[in-house]
Amino acid sequence: MYLTVNKILLGDCLESLATIPNNTIDVCFADPPFNLDKKYGSSNDRLPLDDYIEWCEKWLLELVRVTKPTGSILVHNIPKWLTYYATILNKHAHFRHWIAWDAMSAPLGKTLLPAHYGILFYSKEPKGTKFYEIRAPHKKCRVCDAYLKDYGGKKDQMHPFGFLVSDVWTDIHRIRHASRRDEHPCQLPIHLLERLVLMTTDVGDVVLDPFLGTGTTAIAAKKLQRNYIGIELDPFYYGVAQKKLDEIKEPTLYQGYPVSMFLGKIQSIRDCDAAELFPKQLTSTEKKRKKSAANGDNGHESTETEPTIQLTWPF
Ligand SMILES: C[S@@+](CC[C@H](N)C(=O)[O-])C[C@H]1O[C@@H](n2cnc3c(N)ncnc32)[C@H](O)[C@@H]1O
Repeated sequence: MYLTVNKILLGDCLESLATIPNNTIDVCFADPPFNLDKKYGSSNDRLPLDDYIEWCEKWLLELVRVTKPTGSILVHNIPKWLTYYATILNKHAHFRHWIAWDAMSAPLGKTLLPAHYGILFYSKEPKGTKFYEIRAPHKKCRVCDAYLKDYGGKKDQMHPFGFLVSDVWTDIHRIRHASRRDEHPCQLPIHLLERLVLMTTDVGDVVLDPFLGTGTTAIAAKKLQRNYIGIELDPFYYGVAQKKLDEIKEPTLYQGYPVSMFLGKIQSIRDCDAAELFPKQLTSTEKKRKKSAANGDNGHESTETEPTIQLTWPF
């Protein structure tokens, strides 16, 4: 049996998903319509609540079906819809994380206006899921270049590249400049998808997005040397995505390792790759030991060479 990859399927996600065999995809990422009356071109983005949830259940179950036993299912949306998706996925897959993505919008006019999106992270099986820790560069003051986090006296224990990301992401911006976005109301930034792809897959794995829009997930996969399958209903978005994919000629590599780059700097890297590229710094104690070892002693502080004085009672 063959799986056709590196292809966008133009059509309805349920019809296209039905053509994909069981247990063949390493990670599924879905960014479905928000049901908020957004202007998407070919689809209706204002369904009655029950109809919307019933439809979501159908494609969520399809995503679980096509995912490999080692694979993950990731779903992006506003918190309201994620609560419904989680209720469905809890019955068929295994909850791992709820990633909060603060996309740096500026909520105006209302308290508690939604300012973050969520990404549900489920694994198909309870054990054996492929997962890689991700590092992002240490946050620095734009004016004085000092580290924003106070490492106190433990600066020598800082990782030389950056920190391990938590489940709250504040370092990836929405696409703000009109010149960098397509004619799509909900295009996601490539760096968000690159981080997720690095976290859940290896080179050569297969990434599936059933709501591809203008191609963000497929572009992230191609740049990181993964295979992709995208599905999109709207012919215009399909065309934009296909054109952008055709324009990618080279993967994004840093010294041979696939990484996510932004403005010439690494934005996300797998911890295992960072360990090769940016070896851990020695702590001050390790440095002292190394120096002593180089001087020919055993690396342990010797009491014989320490200056001592005779204590006499009372001390
Ligand atoms: C929230 S947008 C995804 C945007 C995408 N993540 C990007 O970065 O460009 C949802 C997309 O799903 C598409 N869509 C809506 N209903 C669909 C269906 N039944 N099958 C496939 N695609 C559909 C819409 O045309 C829209 O492009």
